[in-house]
Amino acid sequence: MPLNKQILLVSRPQGEASVDNFRLVQTETPPLADGQVLVQHHYLSLDPYMRGRMNEGKSYAAPQPLNEVMIGGTVGQVVESRHPRYAVGDWVVGMGGWQEYSVVDANQPGVLRKVDVSRIPPSHYLGAVGMPGVTAWYGLVKIIEPKAGQTITVSAAAGAVGSAVGVLAKQRGCRVVGIAGGPDKCAYVRDELGFDDCIDYREHRDLKSLAGALKAACPNGIDGHFENVGGMVLDAVMLRANAFSRVALCGMIAGYDGQPLPMLNPALILINRMRIEGFIVSEHMEVWPEALAELGELVGSGRYRPRESIAHGIASAPEAFLGLLKGRNFGKQLVKLV
Ligand SMILES: NC(=O)c1ccc[n+]([C@@H]2O[C@H](COP(=O)([O-])OP(=O)(O)OC[C@H]3O[C@@H](n4cnc5c(N)ncnc54)[C@H](OP(=O)(O)O)[C@@H]3O)[C@@H](O)[C@H]2O)c1
Repeated sequence: MPLNKQILLVSRPQGEASVDNFRLVQTETPPLADGQVLVQHHYLSLDPYMRGRMNEGKSYAAPQPLNEVMIGGTVGQVVESRHPRYAVGDWVVGMGGWQEYSVVDANQPGVLRKVDVSRIPPSHYLGAVGMPGVTAWYGLVKIIEPKAGQTITVSAAAGAVGSAVGVLAKQRGCRVVGIAGGPDKCAYVRDELGFDDCIDYREHRDLKSLAGALKAACPNGIDGHFENVGGMVLDAVMLRANAFSRVALCGMIAGYDGQPLPMLNPALILINRMRIEGFIVSEHMEVWPEALAELGELVGSGRYRPRESIAHGIASAPEAFLGLLKGRNFGKQLVKLV
């Protein structure tokens, strides 16, 4: 059986997470029992939610246990099988964790999903045609409920979720305005993803300036907003929100290191009769087939070309993850393992 490099969570962060919270170990993969398969991971997905799992505190999901392999989505190939439904060479998506191999009890429902890599590269099953893509689809389609001609804004617009939100909203005939950090990200959002406009929030250091930029980019106000960041970005959007507008509250990455993110003017929710709704994509498994079908078609046909940031080797995962929390990724953050 092959040797397996793994990254464990060994301590919980106080404030900012650091590489010292993780440890690289090497173990032997155990021999397979009946019903099990051995998966070699080609890509590991790094996602902002992992920062929340590093904390002890109560949240919508249980904390990551200490001294165990960090949780994470993976795509890879079956290299050994003692399960009749899986053959050596099959491509599968699962929650293999921060390691090179995983032994999976394939009888458990939903633990592995076979994927077709003939039209869609395997890595996209962790991004645009995976959990982040479905997240975008759910928040946009089920919460924002966009109509043609409406103006939709999205923060962290160059990222895995944000880019898919914009592409899906353009498909529905909306005016789409992204908010992202830096001129390169904004150029990608506008020129390659086809958003109508993108605001570089780093050029707008205060609320008045950011709200002014939103006013210029959204002359008819904002009908729907997809929030990934929180803080000043959300405050500025609230100032431009139309009556009966909707906000899909997907993430608040600006506060993931623990500091509270107050909302400046919640009275605007009443004044504008707004609907603000948080959601967790894994609680809406019923939409996954429909969402994945649309996203798979967009990516497979080349109409949506998702961008990726790729780190190499399992040892690079902690640094790449910390970079994601600082906006150093450009598109879906992955670790290539093979
Ligand atoms: N509710 C759910 O079920 C669900 C599921 C998946 C993801 N999410 C959330 O969706 C959001 C996006 O996730 P993703 O996987 O697509 O990540 P991502 O956008 O690919 O990467 C994170 C991006 O967030 C921005 N960012 C990081 N720190 C920031 C800060 N302090 N202030 C402002 N922006 C910051 C950076 O972009 P800039 O350089 O443009 O600032 C960074 O590139 C996250 O909030 C995540 O937690 C929620």
